[in-house]
Amino acid sequence: MKIFIDCDPGVDDSIAILFALFRKDVEIVGISTSVGNVSASKGAENAMRILKLAGYEGKIPVCAGAEKPLRGECEDFPTFIHGVNGTGNVELPATSQRPMDMDVSDFMYQKACDHAGELVLISLGRMTNLANTLARYPDYAGKIKRVVAMGGTVYASGNVSPVVEANIGGDPEAADIAMQADWDMTLVGLDVTTVTHLTRADVDKLLRCCNPAKKDAVSFISKALQHYMNGSRIQNYTMEYSPLHDPLAMVVAVDPSVVTTRKMVTRVECGGTYCRGKIVVDLREQPIKGRFVEHCLEVNSRKALNELFAAFQN
Ligand code: BDR
Ligand code: CA
Repeated sequence: MKIFIDCDPGVDDSIAILFALFRKDVEIVGISTSVGNVSASKGAENAMRILKLAGYEGKIPVCAGAEKPLRGECEDFPTFIHGVNGTGNVELPATSQRPMDMDVSDFMYQKACDHAGELVLISLGRMTNLANTLARYPDYAGKIKRVVAMGGTVYASGNVSPVVEANIGGDPEAADIAMQADWDMTLVGLDVTTVTHLTRADVDKLLRCCNPAKKDAVSFISKALQHYMNGSRIQNYTMEYSPLHDPLAMVVAVDPSVVTTRKMVTRVECGGTYCRGKIVVDLREQPIKGRFVEHCLEVNSRKALNELFAAFQN
């Protein structure tokens, strides 16, 4: 499966990227970043350091994208979850790889053209780059096979407001544009990511039984999760685990059988205070105007976690 990753690394983005790199059936053709957990330029630097950690230095192009949402400015970065540097305050070795010297929309479109009809777009951050690319290239959506995005919540509580998830809340206008585009989109939201628990015990076990060639990557994950899990404890009072956001989206992309989904007419609320960024689904016979988006509502968490860990053991 060929994938393109748009992300904001990010501790959980980094784990998702490592998982994809270690899956033999996945080929990453490009990575782009937007502001979110860190600035887009720092996110690109983190992505390139992750590539180096996994033995892919300079082998996959990385491009920095939007430094602000479509409307307004950025708020403070969530350093209590992702650390000041985005990788849980773990300093990864520097890389000689440089980000692509081109506009992110041109980069995303070029990759979509190079692999037209076969590219799965994985969105792990705000959808600003997606919206900008759709605006610049009206035929972009038609070149993408499907989109799998970590974001939103239908029934679970939000994580940046009572009803809003961070990736959608960070740029609601962009998310609505991306959801109304003419492509198949699956949203892996808090309904499934918050009930899939990454535990310290599981990570400790993985450290002991991982493939020796992947030990550096697993050691990084273990260290970065110390800060990330502490952030989760502050945010959610979870003592020994954190929710599995971006890595679960990546697992769903390679194995949709781990989730149960429902397609629903979907819009993103772009007004309000507490509801700005809320996913609105309409189940009525005569719904509002909106496209069908596939929402993950239930998950076989153990199976998903086993798939995640297997990539680091094989
Ligand atoms: C999402 O927000 C970011 O902090 C994470 O990387 C993830 O993509 C979870 O709401
Ligand atoms: Ca992310």
